[in-house]
Amino acid sequence: MPPHDRTRRHWPVARVGEVAPGQRKLVEVDGRSIGLFNVKGKLIAVLNVCPHELAPVCLGRVGGTTLPSPPGEFRWGRDGEILACPWHGWEFDLLTGEALADRRHLRLYDVTVDGDTVYVTV
Ligand code: FES
Repeated sequence: MPPHDRTRRHWPVARVGEVAPGQRKLVEVDGRSIGLFNVKGKLIAVLNVCPHELAPVCLGRVGGTTLPSPPGEFRWGRDGEILACPWHGWEFDLLTGEALADRRHLRLYDVTVDGDTVYVTV
């Protein structure tokens, strides 16, 4: 582990299979509120703080978003991959943490599985 990682620890947060695809679990890790999301089988850990005005973003709706399309057409996609903040509706890509319409992004944490336990690295 690199020197700057010496203080990082793996925290058990869930059992494998506990968070089904499309579901989430809020956990407390080392004083932080973190949302553990299952996005189509991939587990994503997100700090429960919106980079806009610090709302509990992990309580927001998970859905899709409009996709680029020609004028006059409306295309919807990425269902289950987009988290909308409950306060002002900013949308974030759960897979990358990036806001869809701004340069700010969610704070993501590494997720690992060992045996039947899911860990978040903080
Ligand atoms: S606090 Fe999240 S969009 Fe404003």
